[in-house]
Amino acid sequence: MPEPRVLLHRSPDQLAAAVCARLVSTLVDAQSSGRVPSWVLTGGSIADRIHEAVADSPARDVVDWSQVELWWGDERFLPDGDPERNHTQARRALLDALSLDPARVHPMAPSDQAGDDPDRAASAYADELATAAHGGGVGGGDTTPTFDVLMLGVGPDGHVASLFPGRPELDDERTAVAVRDSPKLPPTRTTLTMPVLRRAREVWFVVTGEEKARAAQQALAGADVTQVPAAGPSGRQSTLWFLDRPAASLLPPS
Ligand code: 6PG
Repeated sequence: MPEPRVLLHRSPDQLAAAVCARLVSTLVDAQSSGRVPSWVLTGGSIADRIHEAVADSPARDVVDWSQVELWWGDERFLPDGDPERNHTQARRALLDALSLDPARVHPMAPSDQAGDDPDRAASAYADELATAAHGGGVGGGDTTPTFDVLMLGVGPDGHVASLFPGRPELDDERTAVAVRDSPKLPPTRTTLTMPVLRRAREVWFVVTGEEKARAAQQALAGADVTQVPAAGPSGRQSTLWFLDRPAASLLPPS
């Protein structure tokens, strides 16, 4: 596993522009090699800025968006279209402006389409991941596709996706699980689990703000994953930490 690389940016907008540029080039490179790339989206405020930067980018449509698979790292378990859902926020900021293939867009089930049962929503997502792993067929050992880019915001407590410090979901071997009584509202969520956050060619942490500085420093120092979940995910080819200066303020001088 290659060592994480820190990419420092002057502001959240500069960080969002850099992530946008790298995302477009990564997706285009994959398409140029004949693959259908997959991008795992994250929720949160810096994710919104990144989505808006992609929507506004002149290079945006160099990507054939009908040939990109979209997945989510986690989701708030709310009715479809709820403004608090990561899927809703991504649609408003970016997805509704793209020529996506609906069959390649994989939101986690909303509460009103999963019988208000987050375990059912998580299990359905695990099935969808397994089906995609086998190229649409069934059988075979893999339980998830190998994602190209897996983006993760990080909370002040070091959580990633909806995997929070000290919580049992951190040890769950399933690929997607329900989270109840989340420390971050809303309380009920569905999330990919840690083994899946290690199933990507590239993991990109996107982190801004001084309140995340301790979590970034601990994760990069190799903290215990049960205490700092952000220490867990890594890419098979690369792990990038996109940080603004406040979020990087506790890192040792490079
Ligand atoms: C969510 C997110 C969550 C988020 C972090 C950072 O559904 O809330 O997936 O993991 O990425 O909490 O959020 P901010 O970027 O808004 O601080």
